[in-house]
Amino acid sequence: MPQNAVKFAPSILAADFARLGEQVAEAERCGADRIHVDVMDGHFVPNLSIGVPVVKSLRQVTRLPLETHLMISDPDFFLDAFAEAGSDSFIVHWESNHNERHTIQRAKSLGKGVGLAINPATPVEVLEEVLPDLDLVLVMTVNPGFGHQHFIRSTWAKIQHVRRIIQQVRPECELEVDGGIDETTAPLGVAAGANVLVAGTSIFGCSQGIETAMRRLREATE
Ligand code: DX5
Ligand code: ZN
Repeated sequence: MPQNAVKFAPSILAADFARLGEQVAEAERCGADRIHVDVMDGHFVPNLSIGVPVVKSLRQVTRLPLETHLMISDPDFFLDAFAEAGSDSFIVHWESNHNERHTIQRAKSLGKGVGLAINPATPVEVLEEVLPDLDLVLVMTVNPGFGHQHFIRSTWAKIQHVRRIIQQVRPECELEVDGGIDETTAPLGVAAGANVLVAGTSIFGCSQGIETAMRRLREATE
């Protein structure tokens, strides 16, 4: 994987929601490639976060793609509303949705990018059937639901495995990792084959600011 292909997707879950617009604009100035929006329903994951109105507001303050990570049961119900609000792509979970083919086709029919996420305990084999239709695979490196968790090191082999399958079946598909990504773990993800890194706490929670955080992350993966 060429080094300059690594993309950064700051996760706003760790942002200061009272200053969300400013912080997203700063992440954009500092070279973020997309904004990762974590949507949680308190059902599929044991936490609540944000929904459609936040995407609508963010659409006014950034030109970056808004990647919407749907940690919700029955994501199909919400695709239209998020698409209308300004989401550019969707990531849905294999575990939340045993009709993922349908969800993927719905997202595509709305003209949106689509990714499938797998949790740390989910086997890579579940991807095989749908991979030809995907723009992205997200390997969760924590159990979804909360920011500021530790990267689960046993996911390393899984990232490598997914990279191998992507190269065989659909090389243009992106491989993203999400959870516990910081200066130490970002290089591990990239070495295993990820080309998109989601990072919340290590960017928006950095005491030295977003610019320093993004520079350090970038340097760590070069
Ligand atoms: C976890 C979310 C992540 C989270 C990452 O369920 O999907 O996107 O915001 O946060 P950090 O980078 O703090 O682990
Ligand atoms: Zn996420």
